[in-house]
Amino acid sequence: MSLKDRIAFITGAGGGIGRQTVVALAKEGVNIVLFGGNNLNKLQESALLAQKEGVKTWIFEGDLTDDNILVNLFEKAISVTGGLDILINNAGMAYSAPIEQTDVEIFDKIMKINARVPFMLIKLALPYLKKSTRASVLNVASVVAHAGYPLQSAYTASKHALLGLTKSLSAEVYKDGIRVHAVSPGGVYTDMVKVSRPDLTGEGMTKPEEIAEIITFILKHRGNAVVDEIIVHRANKQPFLI
Ligand SMILES: NC(=O)c1ccc[n+]([C@@H]2O[C@H](COP(=O)([O-])OP(=O)(O)OC[C@H]3O[C@@H](n4cnc5c(N)ncnc54)[C@H](OP(=O)(O)O)[C@@H]3O)[C@@H](O)[C@H]2O)c1
Repeated sequence: MSLKDRIAFITGAGGGIGRQTVVALAKEGVNIVLFGGNNLNKLQESALLAQKEGVKTWIFEGDLTDDNILVNLFEKAISVTGGLDILINNAGMAYSAPIEQTDVEIFDKIMKINARVPFMLIKLALPYLKKSTRASVLNVASVVAHAGYPLQSAYTASKHALLGLTKSLSAEVYKDGIRVHAVSPGGVYTDMVKVSRPDLTGEGMTKPEEIAEIITFILKHRGNAVVDEIIVHRANKQPFLI
C-alpha cells in the first residue's frame, strides 16, 4: 500500500528511532507531525531531513507527561492537519537500577511517558483514525515487554503495560479497520542506550535505521497477512533468547 499523502503523528521524533522513522516515512511521501520533549533543535533537524523528501512537517514541542500540554499540542496539531492516518507512540524513557534504588517518582515518570502518554494519545486520536480509510497505530515497545529484565523493573513494567494496551486496543478497533501493532526492539544504539547502558559500545547492536525500516514495512503492508507484534533482537544476542 502506498503511504503517499498520509498524515502520521509521531512522538519522540527528535530521538534516535524517532528521527530515522521520520526520514523513512518521509521517503514514502508521508506528511508528519513531530512531537518531542524539550529539545527543539533535535526536532528541527528531523523535520529538515523530512522536508528534503518533499513532505510537509509540523513541530509540536513540550513535555507530553503534562496532561494539559499533551492535550493542547494534540489539538493544535489536529487544527492544522485536520486529522491523521497513523499514530506512532515512540517517545520513551529507560532506567537501569536495582528496585531498592529505583525511586517511586522515577517509576511514575517512566510509566507516564511509556504507557500513560500512549493511552491518552490513542484516546484523542481514535475519533480521527476512525475517519481514515487506512488507519494504523504503532507502539514502540521493547524486548522488556516480553520478559522479566533484572535492574530494569520500572522500564519493564511500563513496556508490559504498553504491550497490554496494544493488545486490547487491537481487539477493540479491528472492526473499525484500524490496525494496531507493537514493535519490540532489543538494544538499539541511540542516546537512550548510551545513557542507561554505558557498558554497551554499539558493537553488534541494531541501528535505529533498521527499526525505522521495519516500522515502515509494517505500516505499508496492508494485505490479508497482519503483523500484530514483532520482536527484533540484536545481532550479538543468541536468537530466541531475548
Ligand atoms: N534504544 C533501545 O535500545 C530501545 C530498545 C527498545 C525499545 N526502545 C524504545 O524506542 C523508543 C525510542 O527510543 P530511542 O532509543 O530512540 O531513544 P532516544 O533517542 O532517547 O529518544 C527518546 C525520545 O523520547 C522523547 N521523550 C522522552 N520523554 C519525553 C517527554 N516527557 N515528552 C516528550 N517526549 C519525550 C525524547 O524527546 P527529547 O529528547 O526532546 O526529550 C526523545 O526524542 C522508546 O520508546 C524506547 O523505550 C529503545
